[in-house]
Amino acid sequence: MLGQPMRVKVGSSLTIELAPFAKDEVQSFIKDGGMQLHSVTRYMSTRQAFTAEDEEYWYDQIRKRTDGYTWGIWHVDGVNRKLIGNTALFNLKEVPFRQATSGSAITDQTYWGKGIASAIHKARTWYSFNQLDLSRIKSEVLLPNIGSKKALENSGYYVYQLERNAHFADGKYIHHEVLECLNPREDKWLRWWGDDKPSPEATVARKLTIAALNWADENVTLL
Ligand SMILES: CC(C)(COP(=O)(O)OP(=O)(O)OC[C@H]1O[C@@H](n2cnc3c(N)ncnc32)[C@H](O)[C@@H]1OP(=O)(O)O)[C@@H](O)C(=O)NCCC(=O)NCCS
Repeated sequence: MLGQPMRVKVGSSLTIELAPFAKDEVQSFIKDGGMQLHSVTRYMSTRQAFTAEDEEYWYDQIRKRTDGYTWGIWHVDGVNRKLIGNTALFNLKEVPFRQATSGSAITDQTYWGKGIASAIHKARTWYSFNQLDLSRIKSEVLLPNIGSKKALENSGYYVYQLERNAHFADGKYIHHEVLECLNPREDKWLRWWGDDKPSPEATVARKLTIAALNWADENVTLL
């Protein structure tokens, strides 16, 4: 399924929309290389150079999936709109807690380092907790994808598991970190931790999630 559109203000001059996209727009993800380039997919556990047909096949799969939502990441500049990547919530589960896994790729490298991933993670987290009533969002990062990890941490994701030597890239074995972002709302938080004391990492991260949700209240509009 494709996700409902949201407008996100990134800094003072950039407007991003998380919005649906059509099958004939997926070539954007391989424009100027994109998902064919090692520099883009290096930390995505794939060695494939995706073609237009692969992207169209992927589109058909995600559109049919009923266990999550995928959004296009659009740069909106006046009347011009450019599809620069995608982000998703998938593996949506109801039991024992309502939760999902998130993932993102900005396939146009000219948009990296502008705060876009940090902003869209905040928007998606805000949507997850305010509209989908999730208790938890999981994500995974292959180190050293520092940009991806920091962008997630800016929404209050924190690492709770490390798998050593999960992947091999650029002549090195690299580790795989698993992160989670917990719904900070009191009832959800207490139910998640039950009789256990929340970990110090989770307690620090909770404050960041509250700050990210407050930021999203000001900077994200569900259209
Ligand atoms: C990883 C990715 C999502 C980051 O997106 P982005 O929009 O460039 O990230 P942001 O601009 O929000 O940066 C987040 C933080 O990471 C830092 N950062 C970004 N890229 C970095 C890099 N290559 N090295 C070190 N730090 C980096 C930023 O300075 C920022 O730091 P701050 O929070 O202290 O200000 C993007 O590069 C991408 O899509 N890469 C290809 C696909 C991919 O790896 N997806 C993730 C799979 S888990």
